[in-house]
Amino acid sequence: MPATSPSILYRQHLDIVQQRATAALERGGFDHLLVPSGTLHYQAFDDRDYPYAVNPHFKAWAPLTRNPGSWLVFTPGHKPKLVYLQPHDYWHVVPEAPDGHWVEHFDIKIIRDANDAQQHLPKNSTRCAILGEPQSSLGKYGAYKPNNPAPVLDYLHYHRSFKTPYEVEMMREANRTGVHAHRAAERAFRAGASEFGIHLAYCQAARQDANDLPYSNIVALNEHGAILHYTERDRLPPKDIRSFLIDAGASHAGYASDITRSYATDTGGEFQALIDAVDAAQRKMCDQVRAGTDYKRIHIDAHLALAGILRDAGVLKVSPETALETGVSSAFFPHGIGHGIGLQVHDVAGFAASDSGGSIDKPAGHPYLRLTRMLEPGMAVTIEPGIYFIDMLLDEVKKNGHADAVNWDKVEALKPYGGIRIEDDVVCTDGEPENLTREAFAAAA
Ligand code: GLY
Ligand code: MN
Ligand code: MN
Repeated sequence: MPATSPSILYRQHLDIVQQRATAALERGGFDHLLVPSGTLHYQAFDDRDYPYAVNPHFKAWAPLTRNPGSWLVFTPGHKPKLVYLQPHDYWHVVPEAPDGHWVEHFDIKIIRDANDAQQHLPKNSTRCAILGEPQSSLGKYGAYKPNNPAPVLDYLHYHRSFKTPYEVEMMREANRTGVHAHRAAERAFRAGASEFGIHLAYCQAARQDANDLPYSNIVALNEHGAILHYTERDRLPPKDIRSFLIDAGASHAGYASDITRSYATDTGGEFQALIDAVDAAQRKMCDQVRAGTDYKRIHIDAHLALAGILRDAGVLKVSPETALETGVSSAFFPHGIGHGIGLQVHDVAGFAASDSGGSIDKPAGHPYLRLTRMLEPGMAVTIEPGIYFIDMLLDEVKKNGHADAVNWDKVEALKPYGGIRIEDDVVCTDGEPENLTREAFAAAA
């Protein structure tokens, strides 16, 4: 069997997960780790459930994303136990019996009723660190109510930033699926489809829909590209299709990809030139994902690079440094350069100063940056610079007395194209960064 087979990678991953759990329990002074997979919740005054979203701490152990009512039980030195709910139910699909290379690593207890989990949990609930949401409580008087001890969470969240080779492989696969679907979406755009039609083409190619995808697809034509989290999806195409921004990922075994691409209909025009410039700059930013680099630095450098692009395009009349100092660059690039990614599209511990708490401040004037840590091998991050033409923010530039910094005729000419964002998922290594997204695009071409 090759050294990189999923079963070997998974076994190594599970070893690390157990080592981390052991250390986290020690930090919190607990004997057992309990992780409920989560439950279905009713919507207000209704008998319909919200979509189920698995507890990320649960799927860190096993590739299970559709198993509400199950529990992971870990006591250091013992084989992890999986209490696996397979209810007697004729209303819903009952989860299959646990299957796959990972199963042999667990002591599996099948239960038919969610309340029966309790008989497989450690007797003394006060010795348990229980990680989950309050709805997962079990037992009389909520004996097994998630207590989410801070020392345990701080430790696990901090170390989860360092992906195991298994996790990187799962994210590679999530990128392959996402890229395959992005290519289908581009074809639909070139064929003149509506936002809704492009979205369906994406889901079809990814073979994933709302409940599977790691976040809601952003499929934006023309001006809609300027709405950062645009998820409306018009049912009919606009009369004149000028540009397309798609931010869409895919899931694999509980891991996410997060990918954005921008396109112009006129591939020889001014907007395409701007896309090409952002693309070239984004590649350089991805190359900054190296051990010992402060992620905040990449964010600030991105402001300078994007302001330089805007100046070269005749949109800005001031230097990149002045644009940054005066906040003008933030009107065009109003979000962070990216975030950690893994089990969650916006992974935890972006500001964690250590594995025992504390947080690293964002740079002043940059409230939307989601990651402020130094990069180290194993960290997986997104790099997603963007340039947008957003009325609300451009009005602020005028109000703040910086109207002279901008060529407003140029802004008016570019506004109908909405915006540009290019986003890849990049893994920091001991050497060259590994760009999971670009690799997948190159392999698919
Ligand atoms: N798709 C959301 C983000 O890029 O962070
Ligand atoms: Mn992102
Ligand atoms: Mn994204």
